[in-house]
Order: sequence, then C-alpha cells, then structure tokens
Amino acid sequence: MNATEADFKHIFLPGDADRPVLLLLHGTGGDENDLVPLGQAVAPDHAILSVRGRVLENGMPRFFRRLAEGVFDLDDLKFRTDELADFITAARDEYEIGKRPLVALGYSNGANIAASLFLKRPEVLDGAMLLRAMVPFDPDELPHLQGKKILMLTGMMDPIIPLENSKKLAGMLADAGADLDFRAKPMAHGLGPSDLTDMQSWFTAAYGTI
Ligand code: MLT
Repeated sequence: MNATEADFKHIFLPGDADRPVLLLLHGTGGDENDLVPLGQAVAPDHAILSVRGRVLENGMPRFFRRLAEGVFDLDDLKFRTDELADFITAARDEYEIGKRPLVALGYSNGANIAASLFLKRPEVLDGAMLLRAMVPFDPDELPHLQGKKILMLTGMMDPIIPLENSKKLAGMLADAGADLDFRAKPMAHGLGPSDLTDMQSWFTAAYGTI
C-alpha cells in the first residue's frame, strides 16, 4: 500500500536520518500545517510526518466522529484508529522511515487518537507527547506498552478534558507498562509556553540531544 494524499492529506518534512520521526496530530478544526512550528521547536532537525484528520464536523477536520463534546462514536473511533494505523505503516515505507522510532505529538482530538493508537494498535507508535488527552475508549484488555515513552500534559482547569478523565488515561497507560510522565498543570485547554519547555526537556531526556 502507498501512503497517498487520497488516504490522508499529509506533509512529510525530511530530517536527520538517524533520529526519531515526529508524527503530528492536530486538534479539532486544525490541519496538517498547524503543529509544524511546535514540532520543529520541540525537536529541530527531526523528520516530521503531519496528518490531517479525515472526519469533518461542521467543516472542521477531526480524527474521529463524536456524538457530543467528550462523547465519542466508538465504532467510528475504532475504524479511524485502524485506518490511521495502516496509513502510518504505509508511510514508514513511502518515506523510508525504516526502524526509526515514531513519536506522536498530538493536541486534544489528535492526542485522543494517539491514545487510541496505543490502546488498539500499540505497534504503531514508539512514544508520544499527549497534550490535553482523555480516555478515547475503555479497552477490554490493556495492551503491552513496555518500552513506550509517553509524556502527558494535562490542564487542571481544562473545561473540555476533565482532570479525572485524563488521570484515568494516565493510569491505563501506566498499568499497560508505558514509561509515563504525567503532569497536571495550572492550565486550561489552550497551550502555553510551559507546554513547549516541558516537551523540549522531556524529549531531550527521552531521545537525546536536540
Ligand atoms: C475530542 O473530541 O477528541 C475532545 O473532546 C477534544 C476536542 O475537542 O477535540
């Protein structure tokens, strides 16, 4: 299978061939361009694969359908998780990513689909920075996430992602064996400068010098 624009609109920016590749997953209403400056600030010189969600909600791209805010269409979520996982697998070939680690940087809806990838298709991602993430679905059994490095940055005053729900996701990922760094911050849903500095220091510690 080829990783084509017909599958997912995306951009690939080549980087240092010896370093992990960032997978950027935008929030509701965003697109594949949104997180590129943030990704480049977190990990300069690393290759970037940035993908646009295929679902439209009143014209706003998302990675899966929802019935209401925080209430997800679980059939669509599972379908879209597999669809994205298959695209990423094809993109590894297409862009000669090979065995380089793939580390997601996802915000809000993008963080939630990244969490769903860990729970349903754990082979796809090696690590992730999950910004304002919640539980995408309750799996029947937890995957094996040993060796996966995950940073979660959650807003304690986030009106969209309840703190308890984000903590529940953190518990699931930790119970599944992930090397998890969960940080609840005095923030709301929007991102701030401290999110960037948190990601930079975590990424450097996890994957070496930037
Ligand atoms: C979601 O739908 O994934 C979450 O509610 C976050 C968002 O508003 O996109």
